[in-house]
Amino acid sequence: MFIPDYLVNEQFDDRYFDVVNALDEAQQIYFENNNLLDRLKIAVQANTPFRIGETGFGAGRIVVALLEYLNKNGLKKITIEYNSVELFPMTSERMLKILDGFKDRVVGEINALVEAYKSVDITVTGWHKMKVEQSFGTLYLNLWIGEALEMLNSLENPCDVWFLDGHGPKKNPSIWRPELLLEVGKKTKKGGTCSTFTVAGVVKRALIDAGFELVKLPGCGGKNHVLQGVKG
Ligand SMILES: C[S@@+](CC[C@H](N)C(=O)[O-])C[C@H]1O[C@@H](n2cnc3c(N)ncnc32)[C@H](O)[C@@H]1O
Repeated sequence: MFIPDYLVNEQFDDRYFDVVNALDEAQQIYFENNNLLDRLKIAVQANTPFRIGETGFGAGRIVVALLEYLNKNGLKKITIEYNSVELFPMTSERMLKILDGFKDRVVGEINALVEAYKSVDITVTGWHKMKVEQSFGTLYLNLWIGEALEMLNSLENPCDVWFLDGHGPKKNPSIWRPELLLEVGKKTKKGGTCSTFTVAGVVKRALIDAGFELVKLPGCGGKNHVLQGVKG
């Protein structure tokens, strides 16, 4: 299959995501496998904040998929804190170009994210705070520009869920290194969860050492299996 250059992260010689069914893939691996809807409803009832962490912001495809998922499930008055990290941030123009393939399905969500992202000075390291308002409620999007371990060290509160999406471990071993995943474990609430598209042994071992109990679940987009973990 022909892959246009702008879909490939030149730093890692790898695509940002599968270009065909990346929204459905995000829905399965990151939202449904983490039982996100039920957990969000419980958090709303208990009036407790719900925090998501992500390693690898890229073009924000998971954010767009999440906005769509929450909007289409008819949720209301939801507040989410979404903490992500990007070492090599792209321009808003490139983000729009990459996400353009999804515009027939999620044009409103794409525009909302790109508008918020335009306020970010991508040359400045550290936290950048954005706010995305949708029919389900508000996503407070905190993006750390810099290295993932720095972001984890500076994160004040543990997350309910982690989306681990930093290129495959062969292309980018750094984002799966044990000391980084150990911090992901420390920055996860007891009973919180993580999920990822890779089932590589090096990732499984590091997540187990970080305190997660792992299950392999059916894969999608050409993958036989994906991983989900619960923090003990
Ligand atoms: C597979 S892409 C993420 C795709 C993104 N979640 C999306 O859906 O659009 C992985 C991202 O992680 C970033 N990255 C890789 N290593 C990193 C590190 N050590 N710290 C922070 N970001 C990193 C890459 O630059 C890339 O944008």
